Amino acid sequence: MITISPSILSADFSNLEQEIKALEQAGADMIHIDVMDGHFVPNLTFGPPVIKSLRKHTTLPFDVHLMIEQPEKHIKSYAEAGADLITIHPETTKHLNRTIEEIKNLGMKAGISLLPTTPTNILDYIIDDIDLILVMSVNPGFGGQSFIPSQLHKILKLAGMIAKNDILLAVDGGINKETASLCRDAGANMLISGSYIFQGDYKTQIKLLK
Ligand code: DX5
Ligand code: ZN
Repeated sequence: MITISPSILSADFSNLEQEIKALEQAGADMIHIDVMDGHFVPNLTFGPPVIKSLRKHTTLPFDVHLMIEQPEKHIKSYAEAGADLITIHPETTKHLNRTIEEIKNLGMKAGISLLPTTPTNILDYIIDDIDLILVMSVNPGFGGQSFIPSQLHKILKLAGMIAKNDILLAVDGGINKETASLCRDAGANMLISGSYIFQGDYKTQIKLLK
């Protein structure tokens, strides 16, 4: 079973209500929300108020990918806005364990995202406490970039590390029909996709990724 979490980074921002309803109709399992602060990544998107206003339009879980510095300052706001799962980058927080604990204490699932050059051993002492590992297969900040092939090796390695538990192993960036198949073969069980889903009929595109 593959979980598909479409990224609304490629959606029509002037019509997000219709976009997430259409994704739900099309068979999405979650909604991936890319939060960017213009500091950790060179782009700026949306924050808690937008997420809160979308919350009433779908029952799908909100998979919130925080690409922001010092996420610990904002975890509570995202919980209150309706996030179900929060993924953070280890480079953005001094006390990774504490920030993960905070996410879970607020009743949400917690994920850690690895940049293309972040080694897997950063997870050694926290892997049993998280619900999701997100492999960034592009440099974060923008949709529509090409998949970095070296990340397949990382997925394979992580799949071995998580063999014993039911952690989600997600891949984000440059996912299309071909790269989805390579990621599934390497052991990924969740795919995040923006531009590929939004370039066609959402239902057809989601089916092609599965
Ligand atoms: C990139 C984001 C991704 C992005 C993926 O920083 O984390 O979620 O939306 O877009 P595509 O699928 O177009 O690479
Ligand atoms: Zn993302």
